[in-house]
Amino acid sequence: MIITGDGSGIGLKLALQLVAPGNTVIICGRDASKLAEAVHLAGAQAVTRDVTVAEDQDRILSDIQAQHGRLDLRIGNAGIFLAYDFRNVPDRLQRIEREIAINATAPLTLARRALPLLEKNARPGIVFVGSAVAFVASPATPVYSGTRALIHHCA
Ligand SMILES: NC(=O)c1ccc[n+]([C@@H]2O[C@H](COP(=O)([O-])OP(=O)(O)OC[C@H]3O[C@@H](n4cnc5c(N)ncnc54)[C@H](OP(=O)(O)O)[C@@H]3O)[C@@H](O)[C@H]2O)c1
Repeated sequence: MIITGDGSGIGLKLALQLVAPGNTVIICGRDASKLAEAVHLAGAQAVTRDVTVAEDQDRILSDIQAQHGRLDLRIGNAGIFLAYDFRNVPDRLQRIEREIAINATAPLTLARRALPLLEKNARPGIVFVGSAVAFVASPATPVYSGTRALIHHCA
């Protein structure tokens, strides 16, 4: 199985839980040093990739295909949470695009790319990590709740 965004936080906890019963768990993030620490703690395998980059998504899946020949479960956990004043930040467009790319576009496009590999199994799974704020808009996080609502409605 592959979990994205698990050098830290919820993803690392998930990796620890899933490795324990004997699953092969592949974790993914951008920060190699964080991933190395997570590999040490969780006993998972790691790939240093950015899930917003199409070529990285392809490499994640082709490496799994080459090394394991199968994928049972894909967990989309990578995410960022940006709190800012929508009216007053000069780089709001970059922030909007970055948060949507990581929290909404990447989980959906990677899940779609993973389908041919997942569908080789009788009972494949895709999990998206959402949030309760999908149901609660907040002026302090103008885009985050929306990205979580999108994932909720796609699941
Ligand atoms: N913490 C909460 O209270 C909470 C509540 C509800 C939902 N969530 C959701 O749960 C998920 C995990 O949250 P968390 O609190 O555990 O956050 P976290 O500790 O910041 O972990 C997020 C992970 O995502 C990875 N990531 C970010 N952008 C990435 C990218 N472009 N490509 C690959 N990996 C990327 C980061 O690794 P790198 O920096 O190495 O890339 C990091 O390990 C998020 O989707 C978040 O929205 C969190």
